[in-house]
Amino acid sequence: MPALIVVGAQWGDEGKGKIVHFLSRNADMVVRYQGGNNAGHTVVFDGKSYALHLIPSGILIPGKKNVIANGVVVNPRAFYDEVRLLERRGIRVRGRLFLSMGAHVILPYHVVLDTLREERGRGIGTTRKGIGPCYEDKVARIGVRIGDFLDPKTFKALVDQNMRVRWMELSSAAKPIAELRREIWKDYDRLRRFIEPFAADASVLINRTLERRGRVLFESAQGAMLDLDFGTYPYVTSSNPIAGGACAGAGVGPTRIDEVLGVTKAYTTRVGLGPFPTEIEGHISHYLREKGHEYGTTTGRPRRIGWLDLVQLRHAIRINGITRLVMTKLDTLAGVHPLKVCTAYRYKGKKIQDFPASRQGAFECEPVFESLAGFSQDLSKARRFSELPSTAREYVQWVEKQLKVPISIVSVGPSKEKTIVRNADFRWMR
Ligand code: IMP
Repeated sequence: MPALIVVGAQWGDEGKGKIVHFLSRNADMVVRYQGGNNAGHTVVFDGKSYALHLIPSGILIPGKKNVIANGVVVNPRAFYDEVRLLERRGIRVRGRLFLSMGAHVILPYHVVLDTLREERGRGIGTTRKGIGPCYEDKVARIGVRIGDFLDPKTFKALVDQNMRVRWMELSSAAKPIAELRREIWKDYDRLRRFIEPFAADASVLINRTLERRGRVLFESAQGAMLDLDFGTYPYVTSSNPIAGGACAGAGVGPTRIDEVLGVTKAYTTRVGLGPFPTEIEGHISHYLREKGHEYGTTTGRPRRIGWLDLVQLRHAIRINGITRLVMTKLDTLAGVHPLKVCTAYRYKGKKIQDFPASRQGAFECEPVFESLAGFSQDLSKARRFSELPSTAREYVQWVEKQLKVPISIVSVGPSKEKTIVRNADFRWMR
């Protein structure tokens, strides 16, 4: 069981950080394969809380190697800040963290372009971290990669070229172009020297580890419904968080992958704009937001709250090839009666089971709900499935029966101990 991909099965923020951290103890290497510092994982470790945006959660476990692969977009400043923050808190990072030469670099003009678009009426509610514009440059084949960033002559030529290409759009921004240039060069030498020792060929490192039967855990950022190709386009991120994205982003063949673990909350959340068929208005959403601390780790925005959506989850299971599920935040549902779960949509007068493929479809469909009994007890002390109240167990069992995928792990709180492993056949845990 050497290669496991952990994906978000909803719109991101499913609690992957905690789960990856939990599973990392059985890994030799943890790999981030897409996205950038738009992601935010809050991991509670040794009683301290860590908000990681770019660096894999495996960094918190001594001895594990961590790789930021080609498919990731890296803001050098954000990378510097995150490494320094970890080091200041006593985590050894050097020699354990590798940054791929092929990862693309987010520069200040990407952030400006992202913000401009959000403010000029074409916004989709991005994190404004420059993610989309950086991936645009990558696809346009004018992007700057880490390898280019480390070579001052190449870097200068690419920056000059790209600022010319983007000149029209940038000249309408509040920040003058000259100031943007100064921002790029101000810290350049320091950042280049800082990054140099981390640079590596990610695909070589990962494949060598797999060849030696080492265990590699691939960690997605965001979630299936934010996937550029299979999410709720255009309200998506600009990369492929789905399991196939791990192969493309890390330079690993699909034949190497053994299992795909999907992480879902016991309910649903999303940040940013876009369709959300099971969204809840009113006091239940307020209750769950406060109880579950449902505010974005990266932007602090309140998350939109909805009931668990099996149509959406079946879509995620299909496009990722999910073999097992993890259900997080079951404890947050305590006190909600009854618990509603969406089993189908009503769309254009028909009951449908598949997530609509059209742009408007997901806005227009109505959820069909079933109600299940809720529970009131505090679940956070349970360490075995049998210690959960019967209605909480029934909720989990009913969902897995509907989805036909085992829910192998149930999380009942942010720290590592608050994790219930159910399936003895989950070989990664051995
Ligand atoms: P971008 O990734 O910043 O371009 O934002 C595109 C969409 O993805 C927006 O709706 C964001 O709110 C959403 N998004 C990006 N990263 C995350 C994340 O880590 N969690 C949840 N939503 C995210």
